[in-house]
Amino acid sequence: MSIINAPRGTRDILPAESWKWSYIIKTAGEVMKNFNFSEILIPIFEHTELFSRGVGETTDIVEKEMYTFIDRGERSITLRPEATAGVMRAAIENNLCAQGNFAKLWSWGPMFRYERPQKGRYRQFYQIDAECLGVAGSSADIEIISMSLELFRRLGLKNLEVVLNSVGCEKCRPVYREKLLNYFNAHKKDLCETCLTRLDRNPLRILDCKKENCGKISDDAPDIYESLCDGCRNHFEEVKTGLENLGFAYRINKRLVRGLDYYTKTAFEILSGDLGAQNAVCGGGRYDNLASSIGGGKIPGVGFACGLDRVVIVMEEQNCSFGKIPAPDVFIIANENNKASAQILTYKLRSAGISAVNDIAGRSFKNQMRSAGLCKYACIIDQDKNKNKNKIILKDMAEGSQIEINQDEIINYLNGKL
Ligand code: HAM
Repeated sequence: MSIINAPRGTRDILPAESWKWSYIIKTAGEVMKNFNFSEILIPIFEHTELFSRGVGETTDIVEKEMYTFIDRGERSITLRPEATAGVMRAAIENNLCAQGNFAKLWSWGPMFRYERPQKGRYRQFYQIDAECLGVAGSSADIEIISMSLELFRRLGLKNLEVVLNSVGCEKCRPVYREKLLNYFNAHKKDLCETCLTRLDRNPLRILDCKKENCGKISDDAPDIYESLCDGCRNHFEEVKTGLENLGFAYRINKRLVRGLDYYTKTAFEILSGDLGAQNAVCGGGRYDNLASSIGGGKIPGVGFACGLDRVVIVMEEQNCSFGKIPAPDVFIIANENNKASAQILTYKLRSAGISAVNDIAGRSFKNQMRSAGLCKYACIIDQDKNKNKNKIILKDMAEGSQIEINQDEIINYLNGKL
């Protein structure tokens, strides 16, 4: 029978790698705690409508990348392509922002998009996501952007660039859209096929096109800053000043529109110089109309999502530290005759909160000793030679020194040392 492989665009994160992921998630949890964000767990699948209405009918995600299926109850269900719409849905459904309350929430987990797989781009990928819901002012934007940068600082990422833009709001964007339409219509013959379809549906997305010709045309397109209303202009200025006050450099890119339709005002990305084509490690922005587009009234929001798969790639390329390689503290070495004593002692240590292993594969004494090399201590039960059944040898693997100790004293001793 043929072997069954993982589906294209998915991969197994094996133990040699998974501890690095745990380190990043633990670090993210610490940063979120420092910024007073609470963890939220939301479903991996939602009603398809949440994304078609929330992320936008004309986005690539909704048009061609969603994993959508009809479940056994005849409902259209979609594996989440991103977390923001789900977090907002949860906040609305559970009244987290009722009576003027605001909520600062974070989450992490798998997302699903049917994209062409390449380095840093997968069909199942992972995001660390943070959302601040219920705050309209620029302080929330500044908090969100600075939190993503703090996470990258703690992880030791270098060579990053913050790219910032304002995409306006429901008041000023229609005016800008009209100007863009006029401009791009005049350059219709030079646009790529995809951009021609964008022309009527979503002309702002043309600005984002990576094709050289479209890029050149977009460079000379009308500037959004000339169309921003006073509210959006002030908000943008406040975000820029806030970032400057915190000492963060950024680059303004008037062509940054991002691939999700819910953005209003702030849009940003954090790019890595060490990733190749898929160079964004983080993307985010403000989405003041997302709640109303999914039937939830007026709840402004701002957030980011950081691509965990890409952060691991960059950290490996930049030789960043992932903390200590996990290994048990104690290896209990015993021969076949002392298997039961080894099992009992191992269980005692584990119950006392000490990470311990004993041999479960019937390996030779020599091989057990070799495996113990990764641990802080080797604990040798050698009752055949030893008259006193209670005595064991405890070897400090780093120092090479060893002591004889009573079994019932070992927990106290190790607790003082580990
Ligand atoms: P996004 O830009 O679509 O935004 O994704 C955020 C990040 O997820 C990207 O910068 C990238 O690092 C990672 N990513 C996206 N697609 C893939 C993929 N196929 N393979 C690997 N990594 C990927 C959002 O998802 C928004 N929900 C962000 C947000 C939160 N905006 C406001 N709040």
